[in-house]
Amino acid sequence: MKDTIILVVTGSVAGYKAAELARNLAGKGLRVKVAMTSAAEKFVTPLTFEALTGGPVLRAGFPQPGEEPMAHINFSRGARLALIAPATADILGKLAHGVADDSVLSMLLACGLPVMAAPAMNTQMYKHPAVQANIALLAERGVEFVGPTSGALACGEEGEGKMEDVETITAAVMKRLGGERDLAGMRVLVTAGGCREPIDPVRYMGNRSSGKMGAAVARMAARRGAQVTLVAAHMETHLPEGVALVRAYTGMEMRDAVGDAFPRCDILVMAAAVTDYRVEHPAGEKVKKKDSMSLDLIRNPDILASVALEKGNRVVAGFAAETEDHLAAGRKKLVAKNLDMIVINDVSRGDIGFGSDFNEATLLTRDGRKMEIARATKDSVANAVLDEAAAIWRANQGRKKPEAAEAS
Ligand code: CTP
Repeated sequence: MKDTIILVVTGSVAGYKAAELARNLAGKGLRVKVAMTSAAEKFVTPLTFEALTGGPVLRAGFPQPGEEPMAHINFSRGARLALIAPATADILGKLAHGVADDSVLSMLLACGLPVMAAPAMNTQMYKHPAVQANIALLAERGVEFVGPTSGALACGEEGEGKMEDVETITAAVMKRLGGERDLAGMRVLVTAGGCREPIDPVRYMGNRSSGKMGAAVARMAARRGAQVTLVAAHMETHLPEGVALVRAYTGMEMRDAVGDAFPRCDILVMAAAVTDYRVEHPAGEKVKKKDSMSLDLIRNPDILASVALEKGNRVVAGFAAETEDHLAAGRKKLVAKNLDMIVINDVSRGDIGFGSDFNEATLLTRDGRKMEIARATKDSVANAVLDEAAAIWRANQGRKKPEAAEAS
């Protein structure tokens, strides 16, 4: 039986490309069912899509007496994916905020399907903080974005906001439907969030990590079929679904949790911001105000460095949060901690890094490769990190285990 996909077309000049997209997807053996917003009908007609797909189009207006009243529920039954292409700022905003003011939006909220979106809009609209926040929120909830790319836009401007080309969108859909479980069989251990060290029962010493980057790595690894354990400290984001969750709030708790899980993993991605120090003797009662106060801090163990000593053929990846001299500092950590790869972030920038839904990074590998990951959602950055970690893992499988080599 053919896989069914719902193609949601919204009101953009790129609407005409949706016709080609529908034909392309059908050419890949998919059954394509099209839903159109009323704005979309200003650019292309439902008849075009009915002719191309051989089925009725779900239109935005509410059903008239005599028409099927539950079309917004029944239309998507049996489908595997909803693809919004082109996706306007309007539909992304409405979807992010649960607005269901027509049949198409109601269908999107009711369908329970994985959603992909190919944004298309003017550059300034795309860059608007409200649009970026909506995209980030949707990405965090699992919507996969394809594009946009840069180029000449219908408004005459040049820049980011052009809908990704039809071939690329088609390829992304096919990957999502079929071949995306490329990490099946791999055991991925991820740490995320910011550790906190108690000072007394009320106060703590901590850092600004939101846990979003580590959560994205865990979410993407699980989505790609890996068996994932997430060791989470303090998190200011949704916890991903489909992962084994272990809570570890202090540096020592994280050391123990990682130590326990590490022997059973193939890849460790250490995205947590581990506290480098802990209070030697946290007070048992709330400390009362004084003119001054000093804390005796002692060093926490370096978790990555210690597990990497026993890594065998496992892949160990770390993050480096830097505010200056990023590359040199990251390279130093790569070597000092015996890592296979390190993801270097500039945390002095407000538009990426701590708390942001976006990231931009430089990835360095043990064998001297350097990759720039351009600014993208943390989900996309997570996928790039996992691609590289999985490639190193596969290459390691072709080699003798270091322990075995020593023994012979
Ligand atoms: N890390 C760790 N154990 C620690 C501190 C850090 O495993 N006690 C890990 C982090 O999870 C991260 C990497 O080491 O993957 C680098 O962390 P970062 O805070 O950038 O570096 P530090 O080693 O703490 O060095 P510094 O704070 O001096 O930059």
